[in-house]
Amino acid sequence: MREESDSKLMPQLNIGHIHAKFPIIQGGMAVRVATAKLAAAVANEGAIGIIAGTGLSVQALQEEIRKARGLTSGYIGVNVLFAATQFAQLVKAAMIEKIDFIVSGAGFSRDVFAWGREFNVPVFSMASSARVGKLSEKMGAAAIIVEGKEAGGHLGTDRSIFDILPEVVSAVNIPVIAAGGIMDGCDIARALECGASGVQMATRFVASEECEASDKFKELYLSSSPEDSVLIDSPVGLPGRAIRNRLTERLLEHKNLLSTQECQGCLKHCTHSFCILDALEKAVDGDIENGLVFSGEFFHRIKEILPVKKIIAQLIHEYEQCQKKVNWGQV
Ligand SMILES: Cc1cc2nc3c(=O)[nH]c(=O)nc-3n(C[C@H](O)[C@H](O)[C@H](O)COP(=O)(O)O)c2cc1C
Repeated sequence: MREESDSKLMPQLNIGHIHAKFPIIQGGMAVRVATAKLAAAVANEGAIGIIAGTGLSVQALQEEIRKARGLTSGYIGVNVLFAATQFAQLVKAAMIEKIDFIVSGAGFSRDVFAWGREFNVPVFSMASSARVGKLSEKMGAAAIIVEGKEAGGHLGTDRSIFDILPEVVSAVNIPVIAAGGIMDGCDIARALECGASGVQMATRFVASEECEASDKFKELYLSSSPEDSVLIDSPVGLPGRAIRNRLTERLLEHKNLLSTQECQGCLKHCTHSFCILDALEKAVDGDIENGLVFSGEFFHRIKEILPVKKIIAQLIHEYEQCQKKVNWGQV
């Protein structure tokens, strides 16, 4: 997996010791949406896989990393939300397992860069502005993942990725990865044209055979309409992009839903409006009415659930076709 690109058009992604054949990273998706099986399938195609650590126990994360290592020799990272109570334990456990890189998001951690230096593991920072991108570079980030408002899950901005991306690219001197609403090869070409070194895609990979979320979760992506993409107030203290269902309707009516659940203390700071761990676990296990189904804004552009191999082959094909179109106004 760790060889030169044989595609004439789609460039490699080089970040420190990482030299991936294709500049595509599969985004971390908690809880248990981005697991070893999905990450390894993506890495086996020459792209980069990420296991979501948030919401797992340290032991469960170690097992996922070992499972992924058994399934691929490609690059695998771990994503942990800074907001999680277990952030330090999960990040350090992944570093001890010699993970290829860490992605830290939803809040800013200075410590993670020190741990990265100690364990010699690169840290990629999530950012939604040039200011946070610059700060991350100064602290020692190996790359910046810039996320626009089109992304699924927690959001740090209401601006489009294509508005923020050029600002971050010109503010930093490390690789910039574009995330949010990248659904096909033309979107990848556009992001690279704007100066990104690669893209992070999550929503497209949910609708894959290897994603271990329940079939109901994946099918909701295919059966919902564009207007079903809604923003809720997450207990993390950030907006979260999800697909409309019974839970989001209740949340939009501002009904406090925590009272029925036992608090597990999963977040460092929680608004206690509802239990996000419980809601994400319900969704991934198939309760798509009472669970929280995070999704990017453009889920409706996905037409079928495919094997990862086919998704990546399609992305490469579309990218190459798109390269032939010179004027971005036409695509
Ligand atoms: C189901 C789901 C769960 C997510 N969970 C996380 C997470 O745990 N940590 C994180 O940093 N980003 C999370 N994200 C954001 C993705 O990693 C990614 O950056 C974003 O969704 C990219 O936009 P796209 O989904 O339009 O491709 C999640 C996204 C989805 C769809």
